[in-house]
Amino acid sequence: MYRNAINQLKNHVTRNTLAAGSVRGQQTAAKLANQRPLIANEPSGPMIVTDSIPGPVSNSKLEELSQIQETHSIQLFLDYNRSLGNYIVDVDGNILLDVYTQISSMPLGYSHPDLLKLLNNADNVRSFINRPALGAFPGTDWADRLKNSLMAVSPPGLQHLCTMACGSCSNENAFKAIYMWYRNKERGPGATVTQEELESCMVNKQPGSPPYTLLSFMGAFHGRTMGCLTATHSKAIHKLDIPSIDWPMAPFPKYKYPLEEHTRENAEEDRKCLEMVEDLIHQYNKKGTPVAGIIIEPIQAEGGDNHASPEFFQNLQQIAKRNGSALLIDEVQTGGGPTGKFWAHEHFNLPEAPDIVTFSKKMLTGGYYCKKEFLPTQGYRIYNTWMGDPGKVIMLEEVVRVIKRDNLLENVQECGDVLMKGLNALEKQYPQHINSTRGRGTFIAFDGSDAAKRDAIVGKLKMKGIHSGGCGDKAVRLRPALIFQPHHANMFLDKLESVLSEL
Ligand SMILES: Cc1ncc(COP(=O)(O)O)c(C=O)c1O
Repeated sequence: MYRNAINQLKNHVTRNTLAAGSVRGQQTAAKLANQRPLIANEPSGPMIVTDSIPGPVSNSKLEELSQIQETHSIQLFLDYNRSLGNYIVDVDGNILLDVYTQISSMPLGYSHPDLLKLLNNADNVRSFINRPALGAFPGTDWADRLKNSLMAVSPPGLQHLCTMACGSCSNENAFKAIYMWYRNKERGPGATVTQEELESCMVNKQPGSPPYTLLSFMGAFHGRTMGCLTATHSKAIHKLDIPSIDWPMAPFPKYKYPLEEHTRENAEEDRKCLEMVEDLIHQYNKKGTPVAGIIIEPIQAEGGDNHASPEFFQNLQQIAKRNGSALLIDEVQTGGGPTGKFWAHEHFNLPEAPDIVTFSKKMLTGGYYCKKEFLPTQGYRIYNTWMGDPGKVIMLEEVVRVIKRDNLLENVQECGDVLMKGLNALEKQYPQHINSTRGRGTFIAFDGSDAAKRDAIVGKLKMKGIHSGGCGDKAVRLRPALIFQPHHANMFLDKLESVLSEL
């Protein structure tokens, strides 16, 4: 099956890769000639064969599926047998360079040969089909698998771990770990749980169910389950009609770009937001609803790729410590290498590790790393049936090996430089259309001049063979796989230039 996919794609030599004659096009052609692709037989460029995307086959599949499911969020039906490396192939046969990768969730792109090889190993196959309840019946190799995958890339200073299935349940369970830690601190060393606590928690009353709160930031996205949704403030459509809890919400810095021209204003913005954080903690503590923890993304992703400075995060950690609150960094979207370091918070030079770091997406399994004191001291307190999936951890083991073998973090940095330089130049050339390029590694975004312009850019890029995505009110976000190389970056820039010149 895989051979077939390769052979089909091998024959697709693109006719429309470069905007002939443009300076970018000539530069791209020269660079393409020198680069060895990380994925053999990847298409050499996009190819669009329908007059619109989605094309007729995609539309008829949508019609069929909508008889069964709600389908409003579906963009495109893909042919995963033919998608390879950085390219997706849709059911109409369009080949698109994918800079969005399933909302940032394909570390090695599509059908990576080293991942396909895992299926040749009979032990792996047994792990794929015998999914255990990991909290109760892990397999003989579980500890080794964890050491070779998640623990091989654990954030500096975090040596403990809990696996989960998705980003939301990772955050949701991390909240619980924070509350238990906070309560243990309040009880003091050696104290035991009282009968009153055991009885009152059963009817959602104090002291068994303490009125702890969790501070989050405006613009944040932490998932769609009830607790996570209370901490989420990116789009109304996610929250509408769902009851929420009275938790404090602080402003997240809103920076002016380019950063080097606005250092003073942006530092002042940091100061104001941090002051609000501390004020809110005092307010909530005072009214008897102590702030047990603070949750924050290293880069607010769904909310529009909003960045904050290393100093902001360093000070936030100090505030958390001063007030006895835990600091949870949500790396569900940023973790796994796209910023050029394995964990985005490593860019911040925090004096010590955050208390908890959650992950999912590029890590293939969900879960969180934590300090030892955040591990529950009894079973079943943080638990669910599957607690992750050994199959995903086997895949992650291979992903980590390939990232190291192929120096993919260096590749991300190199590619990120190409993208940032190119986007900054395009922003200067077309200031009426795009602005505020920002990013780390290939985790990059820029704004359209308004939401309509952003949508037009994403739509037109698609018709030129680039699959990108939006976030926030007016940002175009780039979330390529770690195997995205400089020649792909140049191809993207070339297509973007052509879109901007036609707007
Ligand atoms: C930062 C962040 N946290 C949490 C989540 C929720 O993850 P999931 O959709 O796997 O529940 C997301 C999803 O986009 C995310 O970006």
